[in-house]
Amino acid sequence: MEKISYPATQRRYRADEHIRELTAGVRLSHKVFIQPLFVDASVEAPRYVDGLNEVRVDSTVSVIETIAADLEAGITKFLLFPVPAKKSVKNFDYSFAVAVIKNIRTHFGDRVWVAADLCLCSYTEHGHCGILNEKGTKLLNNPTVAELAKYATLLADAGANCIAPSDMMDGRIGAIRAQLDVLGYDDVSIMSYAAKFSSQFYGPFRDACHSAPSAGGLKNRKTYQIDAANLNDAVASALRDEKEGADILMVKPAALYTDVIKTLKQQTLKPVAAYHVSGEYAAVEMLAEKGMADRSAVHLEVWTAMVRSGADIIISYAARNAKQWIEEKKY
Ligand code: PBG
Repeated sequence: MEKISYPATQRRYRADEHIRELTAGVRLSHKVFIQPLFVDASVEAPRYVDGLNEVRVDSTVSVIETIAADLEAGITKFLLFPVPAKKSVKNFDYSFAVAVIKNIRTHFGDRVWVAADLCLCSYTEHGHCGILNEKGTKLLNNPTVAELAKYATLLADAGANCIAPSDMMDGRIGAIRAQLDVLGYDDVSIMSYAAKFSSQFYGPFRDACHSAPSAGGLKNRKTYQIDAANLNDAVASALRDEKEGADILMVKPAALYTDVIKTLKQQTLKPVAAYHVSGEYAAVEMLAEKGMADRSAVHLEVWTAMVRSGADIIISYAARNAKQWIEEKKY
């Protein structure tokens, strides 16, 4: 019989684990992972959130245990979401967030890197990310930016390594950078939620932070978060943030937005962070819970897709498992 040869076969690259390992383009490392943390002033015992398996809303005390366990698991970088006990319309009280960061710093010193989310949505009665006009029909850009810049300096003073503005106002990166520099916080970096879309995938998070928007005249965040259909707006917003002084540009959500990650990465030398958001995490967890996917394998596959698309940094609710799962490579 004539021997058939396929010189152009691709299957030789898949023949065994060794050649797959040698030729894989993407290598995951737990060192690029950031673990989100929720700390709520009104929580006494840690509370679990629907859909967010393994993620708890901590008290000031229990967050220290959470971080200690995460350090054991090889995770040293965190994104902190402080939830104050009291909501208001103006004159926000940032003392809880400040106290939490100070406490973390006292316990762990330089062993941890803490990025503090900077937004007003868990401070406002209406759940919007800033200050509204009197009628509650419009989110006011400049007063919100001024408030956020003030808040940012308090977080930096408390010991945050990085400020992560997630409000989506125009001009906030420039304003925050200027304020930080004036006060001498030039080592504090800014991770901008640069391409943050108005998404259905933030549901579990809003439950964790009590931050669902509810103003009578303004029911959703579409006047400040980016439309899922608008790639140009996403890339332009991110490049604008870069010009204003952002050190890290984030794309959020991430898994359905890998085209945004890729397009942005081609146009910037800044590190790009991909945030696998609460609803995306919950979707993956539900699939695994129903026995339709292997939990660690499905997270690893998502992370691989994000890195393959150009993400340098991954923010995931399962970050604390990254080291173990990558070592075991269960997929
Ligand atoms: C606050 C904020 C949100 C998220 C991060 N910061 C929610 C929102 O914009 O409504 C979402 C994170 C997640 O879903 O995991 N502005």
